Amino acid sequence: MSFETILIKIEGGVATVTLNRPQQLNALNRQMFRELDEAFEEVATDPAARVLVITGAGDRAFAAGADIREFVDMDPVAALDFSRNAQRIFRTLETMPKPTIAAVNGFALGGGCELMMACDIAYAADTARVGQPEITLGIIPGAGGTQRLSRLVGKQKAKELMMTGDMLPAEEALRLGLVCKVVPAADLMTEVQKLCERLLSKGDVALRMVKEAVEAGTQVDLASGTEIEAKAWSLCFTTEDYVEGVKAFLEKRKASFKGR
Ligand code: COA
Repeated sequence: MSFETILIKIEGGVATVTLNRPQQLNALNRQMFRELDEAFEEVATDPAARVLVITGAGDRAFAAGADIREFVDMDPVAALDFSRNAQRIFRTLETMPKPTIAAVNGFALGGGCELMMACDIAYAADTARVGQPEITLGIIPGAGGTQRLSRLVGKQKAKELMMTGDMLPAEEALRLGLVCKVVPAADLMTEVQKLCERLLSKGDVALRMVKEAVEAGTQVDLASGTEIEAKAWSLCFTTEDYVEGVKAFLEKRKASFKGR
């Protein structure tokens, strides 16, 4: 695969997608959306990629939003298509059957924040700034931000953030539960790699079931959600990994999972 606006590397079970328009603070233009769409599809289906990491090129930004230059003269119908397309791509990422990690190495604003929120886990550099500043352009988040932000931080805080356009320091994003961990910028990729190693040592099917139960279960009422959990739990009992996991515990050794 060769792309112009992103880089992709698959190594040791980890696929790393780097948003690569550092001069524009990795702003997501139409081409980048197209390339991400293709890359996510590829990572989702490639068995060599067991975990996906998304980060930004350079040391300033994860992504500073959708490319505002492409908003000039956008009519409402084009805006509707743009929003739905971005939402679809981020939903593909959110429902990808393997763990996804945002390594937030700087600004994660607008579409960048929306991309981060569609990942399973976000680790941030202490230099990161996170927010949905669309209001300053006279618009609102359109790639899932109004929905994911309210679900992550609660309605009131989400409305405050989207109505003010405030950009939060990393520590504040951590306090709100928008990211899981904040580390010195220089250590970000090492910490993310450590997380990848921990995930790679787990069984792929069980990881996938965690994700499916959470993603499907949080869309529905508790009784339906716990039923989804029961189905996902019972499916784990079809795997060799479950046999190995239980056996390893009883034999007081570390399990060696095969992902099946
Ligand atoms: N779309 C297009 N270009 C963008 C961009 C975006 N979302 N964000 C940054 N850039 C470009 C700038 O236009 C500038 O390009 P130039 O050098 O050709 O003029 C370059 O990236 C560097 O940004 P600059 O604004 O000069 O850096 P800064 O340090 O002064 O400010 C930000 C950084 C992130 C605060 C500022 O760029 C910003 O507010 N960006 C827009 C954020 C936003 O509203 N995102 C939501 C979009 S829907």
